[in-house]
Amino acid sequence: IPVQPFDLVIFGATGDLARRKILPGLYRRMVAGQMPEDARVIGAARSNLTLKAFRTMIGEALETYIGKDKLDEEVRSKFLSILDYVTIDATGTSGWSELGKKLEKTSDHTRAFYLSVGPSLFGPIAARLQSTGIATSSSRIVVEKPLGHDLESARALNKQLSESFDETQIYRIDHYLGKETVQNLMAVRFANTLFEPLWNARHVDHVQITVSESIGVAGRGGYYDKSGAMRDMVQNHLMQLLCLTAMEPPARFDADRVRDEKLKVIRSLETVDIEDTVRGQYRAGPDGPSYVEDAENPDSRTESYVALKVEISNWRWTGTPFYLRTGKRLRAQLSEIAVVFKEPPHSIFPKLPAHQTNALIIRLQPDEGITLRMTIKEPGPGGMRLADVPLDMTFADALGPAAESMPDAYERLIMDVIRGDQTLFMRGDEVEAAWEWTDRILDDWSEKSEKPVAYDAGGSGPEDALGLMHRDGRRWRSIEI
Ligand code: BG6
Repeated sequence: IPVQPFDLVIFGATGDLARRKILPGLYRRMVAGQMPEDARVIGAARSNLTLKAFRTMIGEALETYIGKDKLDEEVRSKFLSILDYVTIDATGTSGWSELGKKLEKTSDHTRAFYLSVGPSLFGPIAARLQSTGIATSSSRIVVEKPLGHDLESARALNKQLSESFDETQIYRIDHYLGKETVQNLMAVRFANTLFEPLWNARHVDHVQITVSESIGVAGRGGYYDKSGAMRDMVQNHLMQLLCLTAMEPPARFDADRVRDEKLKVIRSLETVDIEDTVRGQYRAGPDGPSYVEDAENPDSRTESYVALKVEISNWRWTGTPFYLRTGKRLRAQLSEIAVVFKEPPHSIFPKLPAHQTNALIIRLQPDEGITLRMTIKEPGPGGMRLADVPLDMTFADALGPAAESMPDAYERLIMDVIRGDQTLFMRGDEVEAAWEWTDRILDDWSEKSEKPVAYDAGGSGPEDALGLMHRDGRRWRSIEI
């Protein structure tokens, strides 16, 4: 779908996210030929920079995050030429009229404001954009997590934004929704007839959602120690994966139909029993310090790992638990959704000790792809011996060059903002409902005030998390890659 001419204003354009993700993402879209001729990207930040200095800064960011040898010189200089810069005081008055003047010249362009700043500035910037007339009724505003710390703060944030912008203008990013495989989950479910008849409690034994990271929190301890894995990952990214896996087929693939269905899932979530939760914190290992050292807080009780057993009370899923786990400093970086099917109702063959039932595994990273685990006969004359084998498909193998040029999550999402497509963005009510559910778990934890259990850095998480599965006669898939 062609992209209309646009002016994208990035508040916080000199910050880490802008330099690491947003601007390199836009550069890549230019390489892909998706940038309209007269697109403009205006950096807005506190630093008193000349346009030349800003362009140099972004040129360097492209070298760092894309790679000097991978840059196309011609595109790079064209990209830098569409950049503009304004020094702005987000909470004061300076810089706003200059920004207004810059935008006046192209009043027919789609106008989008990306607030790559802390959430305390969302409200003030939104209000100022409105009161100065810089934002029009067709402008878009983009914000990203943390979208609140709990339900109350999330509501306050939504209220502030809605005082200046209509819900149809607000784009709340969860970068997991921009991941190609996450969108593929919808394609797998709703563009094939194979799985949907089986996608329910009658046939699915349980679902496992894993987002395992090998990195720790060094360098971001200040933020992370106040959040923990529950707020940082479960309330948003894992919740989105759960919703897309569990939701009913929307009547149409459009923003509100999809988001209505996700909201219904969140509203069907049972309150999680504290016995069905595990909080972990990594201890020091041979190749790295402990969480408390990384977070520079010796008394920290923040969890760097969470495992949960979640029940969805609705017609489709009652009786099929969803097990969620995510943690830092684990053995590998691996994210996947595994839909594990039930045993055949009657087995006519001898069972293998390590027998697995059918499972559909959707791999988000690494090696994005899909695996279907099947049981077949082992070759040879030794009788009817069964073996579990994968029917494996990586997107790179299946789609070749198309998969190699797959846009990164941010590239995809920014282009959707310009196109005006909110399907992959969270609606305000969805964020609030997710917080309402998360808060109940967080409240139980803080009432109990227990220390998280320790786990080995570089391992597969706390023993207790294994127990969460074992007591139900199930086991986690390996996070070995
Ligand atoms: C971010 C979290 O939202 O997602 C980080 O704040 C986490 O703690 C990151 O590392 C994971 O994203 P990805 O795309 O690397 O899986």
